[in-house]
Amino acid sequence: MLVAIIGQGYVGLTIAVGAAGAGHSVVGFDVNDGLVSALNAGTSHIEGISDAALASFISSGAYQASTEPSVIDGCDVIVIAVPTPLDEARNPDLSYVHAAADLIAKNAKSSALVINESTSYPGTLRNEIAARITGVEHLYASSPERVDPGNTQWGTKNTPRLIGGLTPAAVAKAKEFYATFCDTIIEVSSPEVAEAAKIFENTFRQVNIALVNEFAQIADALGISGREVIDAAATKPYGFMEFNPGPGVGGHCIPVDPSYLAHVANEVGVPATFIKRANEVNLAMPAYVVKRVVAGSGGSIKDKKVVVVGVSYKSNVADTRETPAAGVIDLLRAQGATVTWHDDLVGSWHGESSAPISGADIAVLVTKHDGLDLAALMGCGYIFDCTGSIAGADGI
Ligand SMILES: NC(=O)c1ccc[n+]([C@@H]2O[C@H](COP(=O)([O-])OP(=O)(O)OC[C@H]3O[C@@H](n4cnc5c(N)ncnc54)[C@H](O)[C@@H]3O)[C@@H](O)[C@H]2O)c1
Repeated sequence: MLVAIIGQGYVGLTIAVGAAGAGHSVVGFDVNDGLVSALNAGTSHIEGISDAALASFISSGAYQASTEPSVIDGCDVIVIAVPTPLDEARNPDLSYVHAAADLIAKNAKSSALVINESTSYPGTLRNEIAARITGVEHLYASSPERVDPGNTQWGTKNTPRLIGGLTPAAVAKAKEFYATFCDTIIEVSSPEVAEAAKIFENTFRQVNIALVNEFAQIADALGISGREVIDAAATKPYGFMEFNPGPGVGGHCIPVDPSYLAHVANEVGVPATFIKRANEVNLAMPAYVVKRVVAGSGGSIKDKKVVVVGVSYKSNVADTRETPAAGVIDLLRAQGATVTWHDDLVGSWHGESSAPISGADIAVLVTKHDGLDLAALMGCGYIFDCTGSIAGADGI
């Protein structure tokens, strides 16, 4: 099939490579010139996709990136994989989805299967995408992406894929497309079910993470180790699922998607109380971390040299979107500390560069990447560990 993928970020590039590997002819459309040039030069910006794999698809003609909107014309399948962030008021921002739909309306002159993989609330495919595209009669399906960047066990191929379509023909074509590079396809009765399943999955994670974050604070106040309690509880072979506490939640999904569910809940008059409380708990974790760092450092960190280690939102990825490290750094600075950060994967961020760990009075380990210089970390006077991986260190 001729496949166009709108958006070449974590999701779009991952699907592009999956489809190219299955023998489709793929064009990755993106509005970012620099990204498109880098991709066409064989440079991947995604941890799970090697430059070598990308280069081989480019040289075989299976993949190319483009900023030219007309490339989507004549494609059999058009996949939308654009950002779905929150606006300033933490409400859904569908402007990127609307731009992608408008791009299809303007450029796709023959009938195609239009698939939305971007995460959004139920009704998005029907009301925000299909309704904006008039003229050509396309098929429409929703297949929310579940990729977990950096996860080596579960990827595009072996993570079951949900599909819901506006018509049986759309479902059939979407199944035919995904069956070429996904092992398990699960058809649901409507796009709304597929869309809601994705945001419910991430809400489940957000609420459970908030629960362990709150529990970790209770356990600490009780003078027992929250992590030891969680490990003990996890020995129960049924009815318990282990989540670990941390400095908050980051990335494009967990801090964002539940607010899409809360938004539609509000529209239909149902109070999304768990989501609201989970947001409050998770967003307050950086303040809790800094409170503990101050307490563990004798009551003041004024003029102390503090290094925040690991500023991406999770291990072994360079993604800093919504990272709780940002709040930790701001609040440490508000306490009068001189704060630097160290993260080889991120390199530069917010106009600052990764600094050495050594020489700091205090190290706050927010995210632990493989290859972290543990000797340098252990050389700091006081270590506060948000990851539960440094034996004997203070932490959550
Ligand atoms: N990153 C994840 O782990 C993940 C997992 C599952 C689902 N998702 C969802 O997938 C969607 C995409 O997320 P992502 O992480 O790939 O985002 P991303 O920011 O990594 O990539 C999005 C890309 O879309 C491009 N873009 C923006 N507007 C465009 C337009 N009008 N036309 C063409 N390209 C455009 C951007 O330049 C960017 O390269 C979101 O809805 C997200 O919630 C993400």
